[in-house]
Amino acid sequence: MFYKKSLDQLLKESKFEGGLKRTLTANNLVSLGIGAIIGAGIFTLTGTAAALHTGPAVVLSFILAAVACAFAGLCYSEFASMIPISGSAYTYAYATMGEFIAWIIGWDLIIEYLFASSTVAVSWSGYMVSFLKDFGITIPASIAQAPYNYDSATGIFTPTGAMINFPAIFIIGIITTLLVIGISESAKFNNIIVVVKVAVILLFIGFGFSYVNMDNLTPFIPESEGPGKYGFDGIVRGAGIIFFAYIGFDAVSTAAQEAKNPQKDMPRGILGSLAICTIIYILVGIVMTGMVPFEQLNVPDPIAVAVNAGGEDLFWLRFPIKIGAIAGLSSVILVMLMGQPRIFYSMSNDGLLPKVFSTIHPRFKTPYITTIITGLIAMVIAGFGPINLLGELVSIGTLLAFVIVCAGILVLRYTDPQLPRPFKTPFFPWVPIFGILVCLYLMAGLPWHTWERLLIWLLIGIIIYFTYSRHHSKVRKDLRGPLAEH
Ligand code: ALA
Repeated sequence: MFYKKSLDQLLKESKFEGGLKRTLTANNLVSLGIGAIIGAGIFTLTGTAAALHTGPAVVLSFILAAVACAFAGLCYSEFASMIPISGSAYTYAYATMGEFIAWIIGWDLIIEYLFASSTVAVSWSGYMVSFLKDFGITIPASIAQAPYNYDSATGIFTPTGAMINFPAIFIIGIITTLLVIGISESAKFNNIIVVVKVAVILLFIGFGFSYVNMDNLTPFIPESEGPGKYGFDGIVRGAGIIFFAYIGFDAVSTAAQEAKNPQKDMPRGILGSLAICTIIYILVGIVMTGMVPFEQLNVPDPIAVAVNAGGEDLFWLRFPIKIGAIAGLSSVILVMLMGQPRIFYSMSNDGLLPKVFSTIHPRFKTPYITTIITGLIAMVIAGFGPINLLGELVSIGTLLAFVIVCAGILVLRYTDPQLPRPFKTPFFPWVPIFGILVCLYLMAGLPWHTWERLLIWLLIGIIIYFTYSRHHSKVRKDLRGPLAEH
């Protein structure tokens, strides 16, 4: 269970793996980060969190979640500059805490990437339906919503009368097809989408600001109405949910192998994209809850609702906002659906998953089997899952990954102090320690039902590890070879 991959071995593998070209600059990495970060969190979940948990204090939730991400981002930066190899947290754990923890984190990352792509697809569906409606095309609610709503405070499901969220399934189908055929998500394409989505958000902030009504912002922290509902407790619950909006900066680390100068640029890419998004989010939070009474924001397209509140003067802004959201959300789905097969691929190469998971299509040169499996599962989840249930699950899963990454930095500084660390997290050991504590704190703020789902997921993972992966592990088999380390 504690077999580790040595850093030498990892670096050797990275030289052989696919011969990826080192083309990405620091700016490309920041842009990649923003491309993966800005999505359903800001376009949809901000409204849900404000309406149900925080009121205008959603801004404080944003700050709290940003603190957790900053600590984790510093730890990711140290790892990414030290082990500039694809595979992200899974690889870091294999090098530091051994196979079992690596398996757990790989299994846990499925929650992050696969479930996040479904969550974002549900948000995409909300904006698409609303966009089409503006052109007189009505998609019946019965095929554009999950069959159940979910109340995260009570854990109760109530029927919506709908059957399936078809647009959400549709977008995953399209993107999966593109990924199988091998769309190369070029830095250029990503840059354009990033510019579009940041531009529409800045338009919203700029034009919305003058419509902020102080009455909507008072009281800033609505009085508590029970656990997780407004008050201080609501802010913590809100931060656990809104944390979703920051997920994606860690995806920068998966591009480590394609960075020109990973030692310097990984930290810049990770921390730069995080800082820019934090500022944008805080401003959006203030403007959104300032324009509309927060109770009205529990909708799939809250930014559009806020713009509507601006009346006819702001009417024109609805279209750019919706187009920006639809394009921006598509790029997040793309990054997530692309990341998942890469992780399966690494795990399968290490023998922890069957070989078929690393099969590459002979013509398209893509990991098509895992891409199709990932797409099909994501479609089912997106077609039937309520967005808040999915979002909370993604948040708790990713927070757990961050806890493990922070712990990895602590462990490695003591076990291998001599390793070259081009980027060192400052204020060691406090940054990783606080990272662990703040992430655990946010996890604690999430409802028990979400914990139950995470624990069941991990239990399934542990069973697979002990019945399959342990017996097929390559590191274990190579134990006597020069590449293994006990
Ligand atoms: N941070 C990404 C989003 O909000 C996952 O869509």
